[in-house]
Amino acid sequence: MRLDRFICKHTEYSQKQARYLVAAGRVSVADAVVKDGRYAVTPFCTVELEGVLLQQRQPHYLMLHKPAGYLSATRDPEHQTVMELIPAELREQLHIGGRLDLHSSGLLILTNDGLWSRQLTAPEQKIAKVYRLETLWPIAEHTAGVFAAGVLLEPEGIRTQPAQLEVLGPCEARLTIYEGRYHQVKRMFQQVDNMVTSLHREAMGTIVLDSELALGECRALTLEEIASIAPTRA
Ligand code: URA
Repeated sequence: MRLDRFICKHTEYSQKQARYLVAAGRVSVADAVVKDGRYAVTPFCTVELEGVLLQQRQPHYLMLHKPAGYLSATRDPEHQTVMELIPAELREQLHIGGRLDLHSSGLLILTNDGLWSRQLTAPEQKIAKVYRLETLWPIAEHTAGVFAAGVLLEPEGIRTQPAQLEVLGPCEARLTIYEGRYHQVKRMFQQVDNMVTSLHREAMGTIVLDSELALGECRALTLEEIASIAPTRA
């Protein structure tokens, strides 16, 4: 929302008076005077009028233990969505930082901090995403080498970042990838003529799914977890 409309909404002042107050330098955002009424106020701004606090920034960062069978979407006519698993008052505000497929489970992060979630998901940031998986057929010996060299994803024509495969059993492995392209893990296994039958995300960067969280439960990220992706914003 524009700063002048924000002032108007949160005080008794008219929009004209609000514009004047802004232009006169009486409004500050994150401790800096802002004189442009068009300035975009988000839930991340601390806004003060003549030293009186109108809004304290309200960022939210949650980790959810996503169960299989829930869609990573805000609404869906057919399936239950992960939004049904988070506190009702946050549902309208939060978005998903790195989706999981309907049948995948594990660590899902939700936030209302768009800049932060872009750092979490942008392929250039190379944040490690760690998955535990099972396959339909035994994992062929050459698989780890193919994934380490990068797999060409069509139709994008993009080669995946070198990924690490740790084979844990004939049809079981842990895979670490550094981007989060559409159905990436499943498509990587298709390239080696195999098929993923179950997929569980254990970690994103140094944020590890909390073992205390039962399926469907969520908790706020700690300050340390938040800072591990990007410094928080004032
Ligand atoms: N890769 C996939 O194929 N599915 C997921 O849910 C996550 C990564």
